[in-house]
Amino acid sequence: MYGEIFCKVYNEFGWNYYPEVFGEQLLLWLRQNGIRVKTAMDLACGTGVLCERLKREGIEASGMDLSAGMIAIARQRDPEIPYEVADMTVFCPERQFDLVTCTGDAVNHIPDLRDVEKIFRNVYAYTVPGGHFIFDLLNEREVSDSEPFESDFEENLRVWFQMTRPAEDKVNLCIRVYEDGREVLEENIRETVHDPAVICGLLQRCGFRVVKCANRLPDDGGIPGTTWNIVAQKPRCGV
Ligand SMILES: C[S@@+](CC[C@H](N)C(=O)[O-])C[C@H]1O[C@@H](n2cnc3c(N)ncnc32)[C@H](O)[C@@H]1O
Repeated sequence: MYGEIFCKVYNEFGWNYYPEVFGEQLLLWLRQNGIRVKTAMDLACGTGVLCERLKREGIEASGMDLSAGMIAIARQRDPEIPYEVADMTVFCPERQFDLVTCTGDAVNHIPDLRDVEKIFRNVYAYTVPGGHFIFDLLNEREVSDSEPFESDFEENLRVWFQMTRPAEDKVNLCIRVYEDGREVLEENIRETVHDPAVICGLLQRCGFRVVKCANRLPDDGGIPGTTWNIVAQKPRCGV
């Protein structure tokens, strides 16, 4: 779970850029494929950027996230969008959605593939027949140790962060906050690199048809990304 300071840093250091770009690519892919979406659920919605973009498109969007700090920022952004704090490994709303999304390598925050499978089974249950589940996944070729980055944050506060790859299948994002030069907080976000072929196999085992697994979402054009974009569809006859 992301702590309060990490949520603020996420919101203020430009990491909202990712869901902004993803939103445009997603809307382009939907247009290219003539898919009309009325309702959407964004899993691990973070600061609510994607929900807000979908809402502007006339889609009735909802979001959920494990971190109360992220949901608080999302609610500030748009108090009318329904958000809830929940764990996506057990989240299973009664109603169904035309589209379920999960971006910003949120699936990589789930280390155990059995939990990833639980998420997929639940998503299958709350996706309408013929509806889509679209998410991204870290591309293992695109993650490596990075140089540390440091910047002023709030008054007297300086923030430092660095991404490292401590093991073949692990990524760690370390963030430290300094107040008047003294370290007051260290938070580590640990992610697991999953094999896209294994993830696609799990989707199929849960009943989904894998429509696409590529480094860009749009079928024609679009920006090649640093992540895998996976599109899964629940069969029209799926129950
Ligand atoms: C890198 S952020 C991505 C946020 C947003 N989707 C975006 O693209 O900006 C990953 C998010 O996954 C959330 N998360 C991690 N584990 C989760 C879980 N089990 N259930 C729900 N959300 C989770 C975190 O709280 C965080 O907001």
